[in-house]
Amino acid sequence: MFVVVGVSGGIAAYKTVQLVRALVTNGHEVHVIPTDDALRFVGTATWEAVSRHPVTTSVHDDVAEVRHVALGTQADLVIVAPATANTLARMAAGIADNLLGVTLLATTAPVLVAPAMHTAMWEHAATRDNLTTLRARGVHVIGPADGPLTGGDSGPGRMSEPDEILAAALALLPAGDATAHRTDLEGMTVAVSTGGTREPIDPVRFLGNRSSGRQGAAVALAAAERGAHVRLVAAHVDEGVLAEALRHPRVEVERVSTAAELDAAMRDAAAGSDVVVMVAAVADFRVAEVSTEKIRKEDGDGSLTLPLVQNPDVLAGLVAARRPGQVIVGFAAETAADDDELRNRGRRKLARKGADLLAANRVGAGLGFEADDNAVILLAADGTEATASGTKRAVADALWDAVASLRARRRG
Ligand code: CTP
Repeated sequence: MFVVVGVSGGIAAYKTVQLVRALVTNGHEVHVIPTDDALRFVGTATWEAVSRHPVTTSVHDDVAEVRHVALGTQADLVIVAPATANTLARMAAGIADNLLGVTLLATTAPVLVAPAMHTAMWEHAATRDNLTTLRARGVHVIGPADGPLTGGDSGPGRMSEPDEILAAALALLPAGDATAHRTDLEGMTVAVSTGGTREPIDPVRFLGNRSSGRQGAAVALAAAERGAHVRLVAAHVDEGVLAEALRHPRVEVERVSTAAELDAAMRDAAAGSDVVVMVAAVADFRVAEVSTEKIRKEDGDGSLTLPLVQNPDVLAGLVAARRPGQVIVGFAAETAADDDELRNRGRRKLARKGADLLAANRVGAGLGFEADDNAVILLAADGTEATASGTKRAVADALWDAVASLRARRRG
């Protein structure tokens, strides 16, 4: 495959040398486009040596071959690593005054960015907005990881490791590469829920949660790419998060809002499915009586009490209605001190819910929600377990591997 690696000016550029080498070793044709700033960290000679191709930063080289457009149009994949705050801002704005900017505008290939910057820059509203814009356009983002940064500080902003970027990149290459060629779910129908339900309080307010729907969207897309027909029930998931799933011909998306709507949609979808995966964060409680009028401060006495009633447990309902042979998978986001506590809580929840498989992940400061990466322990009711970490797509593929091996154990 033809892979373009854009490199912007950050110290993490030295790690990109390893990424380029790994891509070449994997048999890909790699063209590196550094920005001028990137060359202060790693020079042209190194990029040419590892990629085995000439390297230029200028739009004005090889004008006769229209090189500035050619690299973008030939690419099967474009990776930008490291992607600095400046480069992300320029991408969001569509600025094209260097070869990398032009290439990014000329390409229709998947784009994967690996941000790297100081935590303060990563958390700045401008960077957050730029990321939202890029994600909405379908750009894939890996990292940044949490850890030591240049200058002695520590926090989110470290570029993901080359092997993680490589795994995410291979997952994006068209069929024939990496995991995309697997067709082990062909002929199966699967139902997946994702996102977070909202329970209305009054016409303008609701009780909600922080689930972005990314993990469930990845689970649905992975299943479709492995051959399954997918019914995806999405509660409040951004269009950008669902973009790829919406484009896939084997994914049917139904949007819901409340736990009751999600319950009904999943019962319907599960009735015709071989596998059911409940990734959605379902509100455990709803407001007993939804106010038809906006609740006003002036009508109260300085406090407000909202009686709540418990929602149905969707997963438990699906387990109770399970078809013979159907595999039911739950997710559990837990605040746990370590893996042992996570495993114990997960095992108890798996038993309580009666599911076949439970993906338990730790949530809390910087973990889980809204992040691009995830780490789960996959606990099966027959006592086996597996761990998976990396991009949400990598976790999704590991989940389908666990489902496939559970089905094989049952048959065997
Ligand atoms: N779930 C569900 N219906 C609910 C709550 C949760 O179907 N009303 C599903 C989730 O989609 C997930 C699994 O159950 O697959 C575990 O969700 P979690 O919130 O961790 O479980 P709870 O039963 O709500 O347990 P806890 O008391 O720990 O919140």
